[in-house]
Amino acid sequence: MRESCLKVLLIESDPGYIDQVREMLSKVPGQSFDLQWSEALLPGLDRLAKGDFDVVLVDTSLPDSHGLDALEALRMHAPAVPIVILSGLDSEALALRAVQIGAQDYLFKGKLEPDHLYRSLRYAIVRQKSQAGCAKTESQGPPVRIIGCLGAKGGVGTTTVACHASLELKRQTGHRVLLADLDMSGASVGFMTRAKSTYTILDAANDLLRLDQSFWEKVVCNGPRELEILPLAAPVCSEEQIRSDRIRYVLRFLRSIYPWIVLDLGRLSPLTASLLSHLTDLLLITTYDLAAVRDTRQVVHRLAEMGFESRRVTLIVNQVPKMDCVAALEVSKVLGIQSSIVVPEGTAGLFEGKSGIRPQLARLAARLAGLEQKPAAWKYFPFLAGFSAKNRQLKTA
Ligand SMILES: Nc1ncnc2c1ncn2[C@@H]1O[C@H](COP(=O)(O)OP(=O)(O)OP(=O)(O)O)[C@@H](O)[C@H]1O
Ligand SMILES: [Mg+2]
Repeated sequence: MRESCLKVLLIESDPGYIDQVREMLSKVPGQSFDLQWSEALLPGLDRLAKGDFDVVLVDTSLPDSHGLDALEALRMHAPAVPIVILSGLDSEALALRAVQIGAQDYLFKGKLEPDHLYRSLRYAIVRQKSQAGCAKTESQGPPVRIIGCLGAKGGVGTTTVACHASLELKRQTGHRVLLADLDMSGASVGFMTRAKSTYTILDAANDLLRLDQSFWEKVVCNGPRELEILPLAAPVCSEEQIRSDRIRYVLRFLRSIYPWIVLDLGRLSPLTASLLSHLTDLLLITTYDLAAVRDTRQVVHRLAEMGFESRRVTLIVNQVPKMDCVAALEVSKVLGIQSSIVVPEGTAGLFEGKSGIRPQLARLAARLAGLEQKPAAWKYFPFLAGFSAKNRQLKTA
């Protein structure tokens, strides 16, 4: 804990009460506070995801949540941060319930004094720390990877790359992989994977406070080889109808379920730009022609302006005629991107038997997963598999 300055997030819709809290904290001797404020739950969660707060103070009556809904959402999105409830209701039952489901304390606004508020915040931080210490023995899984697929322009193969890369990640890692369609104009993941769902990510986004594991199992559908898919059904809505803070909420929730999430982002837009900070990797897809390279340069420029680091970008130069594959490697140098993959023109569908583009996208998945690429199963000549393994041993001996 920072003894010198406690960083507090207050989620409260009444500006008058925010001033009261600020005044109370200013009266605490020998302790300074960095008090930040959000007027509702969703912007509060966004702020919490960015900052490193010591403690959250949250009201039970907010424009986008009521009662202890906000507490449950906070617990899910930021389990390590202590939460203190501020309520206009002096209710013993509500206070008990709040503590049962993870609040560190419940304060009645009507009787709050500076000293009481400060002690509650301090104790909340200490208690949370000791609980986290007890839970430390539980092993933590590997960090979640969220991979965005972004087309430099329409029709360059963004959905194709997203689908193949997801399938390869599933095959090579054996982990749960979710492929979610966020391209509001294309909505073609469902078509390409033949996944049929009555729900889309918009249903989850519109019903945030019901979003839990069992609700999610109804929303997501099965794709080929146990890939989990969240398609968008046509006709899709316009981006203006979607609140990006709601999509970010769903993404944060999904991090608790999937070690791998692949997003078909379509083109760069206000919505996709607002999701960039959630991505661990970005696959930027383009083709090998002048117009596409020019568009790609613009996207690269805008990504840099938005502070997205180029080391997290892999350029996919797609649909390259076989004879140009070597020359196409130069495109990444021209654009100043270090990591790139060239994908030749070839059969690109997921169900077209031996896919012409699968080997390159398998290499991409192996690189993302930090794995030596698993060779595809030797179906027809199993003796050759043994032969090549022996050969490898001889070479490395
Ligand atoms: N490497 C490739 N070789 C041959 N055809 C390809 C290749 N990659 C993609 N295609 C084909 O190009 C077409 C467009 O692909 P896709 O739908 O993935 O592009 P997109 O960028 O997602 O398009 P949109 O802007 O409409 O969302 C599809 O018919 C796909 O099969
Ligand atoms: Mg597409």
